[in-house]
Amino acid sequence: MADDTSIFIGASRKPDDSYQRAENLLLQYGNRHGLVTGATGTGKTVSLQILAEGFSNAGVPVFCADIKGDLSGIAMMGMPQDFLVKRAEQVKLDPYDFQEFPVIFWDLFGEQGHPIRATVSEMGPLLLSRLMNLSEAQEGIMNIAFRIADEEGLLLLDLKDLQALLANIAERAEEIGARYGNVTKPSVGAIQRTLLVLEQQGATNFFGEPALRIADIMRTTRDGRGAISVLAADKLMMNPRLYATFLLWLMSELFEELPEVGDPDKPKLVFFFDEAHLLFDDAPKVLIDRVEQVVRLIRSKGVGVYFVTQNPLDIPETVLAQLGNRVQHALRAYTPREQKAVRTAAETFRPNPDFDCATVITQLGTGEALVSTLEAKGVPSMVQRTLVRPPSSRLGPITPDERRKLITESPVSGQYDQAIDRESAFEMLQKKAKDALDAEAQQQESGRSRWTIPGFGNDDSAPQPTGGRRAPAPRSSNRQTVAEAAIKSVVRSVGSSVGRAIVRGILGSLARGR
Ligand SMILES: Nc1ncnc2c1ncn2[C@@H]1O[C@H](COP(=O)(O)OP(=O)(O)OP(=O)(O)O)[C@@H](O)[C@H]1O
Ligand SMILES: [Mg+2]
Repeated sequence: MADDTSIFIGASRKPDDSYQRAENLLLQYGNRHGLVTGATGTGKTVSLQILAEGFSNAGVPVFCADIKGDLSGIAMMGMPQDFLVKRAEQVKLDPYDFQEFPVIFWDLFGEQGHPIRATVSEMGPLLLSRLMNLSEAQEGIMNIAFRIADEEGLLLLDLKDLQALLANIAERAEEIGARYGNVTKPSVGAIQRTLLVLEQQGATNFFGEPALRIADIMRTTRDGRGAISVLAADKLMMNPRLYATFLLWLMSELFEELPEVGDPDKPKLVFFFDEAHLLFDDAPKVLIDRVEQVVRLIRSKGVGVYFVTQNPLDIPETVLAQLGNRVQHALRAYTPREQKAVRTAAETFRPNPDFDCATVITQLGTGEALVSTLEAKGVPSMVQRTLVRPPSSRLGPITPDERRKLITESPVSGQYDQAIDRESAFEMLQKKAKDALDAEAQQQESGRSRWTIPGFGNDDSAPQPTGGRRAPAPRSSNRQTVAEAAIKSVVRSVGSSVGRAIVRGILGSLARGR
């Protein structure tokens, strides 16, 4: 049905409801983004599933969030259930093959998949401020904190590091406030308390190392299929801000790390953003503008972003305008807002003289959708009433045992499972404080030494009876290694801050004008 330049979505129907023709998504335009919408239970997840299958079979890696756990079945072979076989016949999918897909499970909490982590410095002050819902003034302080960390070579890896840095800044509030303005002990204290809340919400697991390597979500299998990364998001959904911030971070990482490719034959990666409204719910305009910008620019990196949400009104117009491939499932039209959504959805399509879009949207059956994809020269196809094909993989969730087995056998098994806690801001600031104390103690001691009679007592800082002048005793035996480590840390943080500076260029300018 579909060749290797397209993905088979389903079959469109004539006005008398008989078979018309196959509807495909051209891989060539897979990076021109997409939208899957529809009310609850209308077939969004299954549409996502068949698109992900299609991309994987075409060798395109996929990243998607699994909100209800029902997408996980994509890792298992499907079964010839009656209603699926019937659907396959209706859409002339012949042969209807069953297949299991190469899935890597991920989980920010490390329970239902490999842990995904990012470092605090990778996340940057802007996204962290959004994550913590900071005020503009507090965001300003966060920016200063990151700047100080850069200047003083303090690595920010986990939340412990950020806490330590903020505590340090609170102590030096007067000095730092004089330099940068607007930093007071109580204002820093307020941020510290917000950070505690974030920790209590389970974000501690997410920040740290080993951080996710983008290459690991861009894998293909030996037989040329794209890996499907499935992010367990059921628990994550209880913290929608963490969910949205994480996906935004991932998108900006992809943007930063991938080279320009122009218009590739097929996407380098496809990203499904389920419950996409969470990204935009009470987001400041500047953030929305920036999402719009990232979505627009990421296309030339070969990344396709597909938003999945119930209501097309959930997506800001500027973003909506960029989503070339559309699958619109049924919408209800009882309330005025619902009616508006239907009209909006209908108006975004290139009309089909055979039917009225707005009417049909409310009449579509389960697993049926209005479909329009980009065809020659990237022009949207005329909208078609389409029965969506059944999936080749399992419909519905996998069992915990199946999941466990797949996690053990995954290609990244063992790579992320153990958190690493290397020397970073927390340890460095602790050491600094200790060194300061030691120095003070030593000074006191040497003061006392002046009153010690040479050659008597155990004061080893006193001149030895036999030796002449000797070098001052080292304060601690690992002094050298501490210095070395500090230098290495500075180098590392400079290295990473250079990379981060670019990210802040894309998402960082958000800090202004919010
Ligand atoms: N293309 C299809 N072929 C066969 N059956 C389908 C298809 N799409 C949907 N269905 C049937 O409809 C059910 C609901 O679909 P799905 O889970 O995709 O809805 P949804 O829009 O994601 O709902 P929710 O908003 O609750 O997540 C599926 O479990 C399946 O039985
Ligand atoms: Mg669903």
